[in-house]
Amino acid sequence: MKYKSVLVPRHGGPEVLQVIENDLRPPSAGEVRIKVLAAAVCRPDVTVRRGEALYTGTPLGQKLPFVPGYAVIGNVDAIGEGVREVTVGERVGVLTVTGGYAEYLNWRNDRLIPVPVELNPAEAVTLILNYIVAYQVMHRSAKVKSGDKVLIIGASGGIGTALLQLGQLAGLKMYAMASKNKHAILAEYGATPLDYRTQDFVELIRQSEPDGLDAIFDGMMRLDYIRRGLSLLRRGGRMVGFGEPAGLGELFRILATVLRVNLLPNGKSLALYGTSSYFLFDKRSFLEDWATLFRLLGEGKIKPVIAARFPILEAAKANALLESGQVIGNVVLLAPELL
Ligand SMILES: NC(=O)c1ccc[n+]([C@@H]2O[C@H](COP(=O)([O-])OP(=O)(O)OC[C@H]3O[C@@H](n4cnc5c(N)ncnc54)[C@H](OP(=O)(O)O)[C@@H]3O)[C@@H](O)[C@H]2O)c1
Repeated sequence: MKYKSVLVPRHGGPEVLQVIENDLRPPSAGEVRIKVLAAAVCRPDVTVRRGEALYTGTPLGQKLPFVPGYAVIGNVDAIGEGVREVTVGERVGVLTVTGGYAEYLNWRNDRLIPVPVELNPAEAVTLILNYIVAYQVMHRSAKVKSGDKVLIIGASGGIGTALLQLGQLAGLKMYAMASKNKHAILAEYGATPLDYRTQDFVELIRQSEPDGLDAIFDGMMRLDYIRRGLSLLRRGGRMVGFGEPAGLGELFRILATVLRVNLLPNGKSLALYGTSSYFLFDKRSFLEDWATLFRLLGEGKIKPVIAARFPILEAAKANALLESGQVIGNVVLLAPELL
């Protein structure tokens, strides 16, 4: 039997994405085969495809060709030898990093995320990357509490809208930066919208919050935003950067700032967040937080904003839309039976 996936054969725009046919193989020992129901179209899919990701050209960079797709939800379709944790038909999620734009994939049994079967896969798949980042930045890194005053930089995207929903749920007073034409949704979640193109966010927030902010969630990771954001923090305030810096030079400058800020006796702190800790040493906290997020979704306390849904094999159109800059929230790819 054959199945299809979407390949990046060379770096470039969405037009380089190519549908290819593969042989469906039985899972090896310790693996399961997953019939993909939903795959998220994530910002890192774009930067890696374009060859603009942080480690492109270094030994840590993604090799070509590859199938993109950072996060999926699917049903276990077959299990390999020695797999006891899941059975055929169970719903699982995977933080794939690459490989998600496919009708089927084989995956390591010890990297499966249990997903309640009653959840809508299109909504659930946004929790695998965008919401886990938002939740952990907010609750594990910044450790916010109700009434905290916060700023979200990059509030209209996949992670930004997740931060807005989780922030509203946590009782935060939010300032949020996005393009003017996306301000309605920021206000819908109770945030004060700021237009980064035409407004000086430092001046405006300083006027409204003379005692300073408790936390800043920064999806841009540009040194100028970091410097200006830090000036807004109160003593004891925390800035957490989760965006991808534009190149290794910018990353090193940011790391130097992290060292300097955290060593200075001014009580402010700057932390960087990355999902790589899931793979390296912190699987348990991720599984706990995904379980919390699935519960919140099941209870209707969060409602992912889905701007568009496409068939999995139309990933090129979905990527073009994400890159257009017009998207509010998430773009997802779905198996044809879910469209
Ligand atoms: N740390 C991690 O583990 C991790 C995981 C996933 C993603 N990321 C990174 O997190 C970042 C956000 O991801 P996402 O999925 O939310 O992206 P996204 O959906 O593409 O949203 C990007 C956001 O950035 C805003 N933006 C663009 N240029 C800006 C500027 N000059 N100033 C302020 N805001 C600006 C956009 O605002 P408008 O469209 O309103 O202009 C939009 O709100 C990306 O850098 C991504 O690579 C990190």
